[in-house]
Amino acid sequence: MECAVEFAGIALRNPVLTASGTFGYGTEFAPFLDLRRLGGIVSKSVSLEPRQGNLPARIAETPAGLLNAIGLENVGVEAFVREKLPALPEGVPVIASVFETQIERYAEVCKRLSGAGRVVGIEINASCPHVKAGGIEFGQSRDALAELVRACRQATSLPLLLKLSPNVTSISEMARVCEDEGADGLSLINTLQALDVDVERRRPLLRNVLGGLSGPAIRPVALRIVFQAAQAVKIPICGIGGIMSGEDAVKFLLSGATAVQVGTANYLNPAVAGEVADGIRAYAARHGFARVADLVGALELPGA
Ligand SMILES: Cc1cc2nc3c(=O)[nH]c(=O)nc-3n(C[C@H](O)[C@H](O)[C@H](O)COP(=O)(O)O)c2cc1C
Repeated sequence: MECAVEFAGIALRNPVLTASGTFGYGTEFAPFLDLRRLGGIVSKSVSLEPRQGNLPARIAETPAGLLNAIGLENVGVEAFVREKLPALPEGVPVIASVFETQIERYAEVCKRLSGAGRVVGIEINASCPHVKAGGIEFGQSRDALAELVRACRQATSLPLLLKLSPNVTSISEMARVCEDEGADGLSLINTLQALDVDVERRRPLLRNVLGGLSGPAIRPVALRIVFQAAQAVKIPICGIGGIMSGEDAVKFLLSGATAVQVGTANYLNPAVAGEVADGIRAYAARHGFARVADLVGALELPGA
């Protein structure tokens, strides 16, 4: 079975990556699985300076989901390049995620990562729903998104992925903006903006009040968004949202994703991403596909 895929110019040994913010900087998970079994790692979003993130409570469980408002806590790009990247085993492709509050700062982080050697691609987080400035404000305005992609495109020649928000009216329109401005791929989706309430205390569960919902609860929404975006653009898509098993991942591939990312599931089972890769391979073999890549977009639509 041929499991390798090419995603946005990046050669992956299989289509399974780990999602930003749910897999630390990668090394934290090395005791639980051989990182070389993964297609790659998308590291925690880094900014120009270190960030402390939001105060607790910043994570809460919901039915079939997880609500978080971590607030982009990270070590900053300098420590990331100096300490975190070299600690990863050779042969594990690293896509570095970038978050900032201003366009020029996004571009500066891209520049610094481009010189870092180990990084095979950059994912721009234009979709964090629970920080005061930055992130989603770029992902929800067509013009701001265009300007952001243009600036990052100029700042790096590495494969450039845009991670978009599901909290938009037309994902097709936002996807086309990214394609027109030179993005090499899309990562879909980030968390859905959400609220949950402690009725006894009559308070929001999170101190930040609003958070981002992830996990199986969002999977059908993510599939819909991947499906719509895949019909709108030619650049490849990485599907994200509630993937817990190989079969969940296959749903994204069939709907048009070329690769997938596993997020919240890592908290339940730190070895799950390797199992997802095995599950995709088993599904492809069981259904007579010679290559995992042949699953991409193979959804049979009624009347087709
Ligand atoms: C605790 C937590 C932290 C996250 N941090 C980031 C982050 O730093 N950057 C980012 O782009 N996405 C971040 N995400 C979003 C995930 O990468 C992913 O897009 C989302 O959780 C949906 O996938 P899932 O349902 O498999 O978790 C975070 C998600 C969680 C649950």
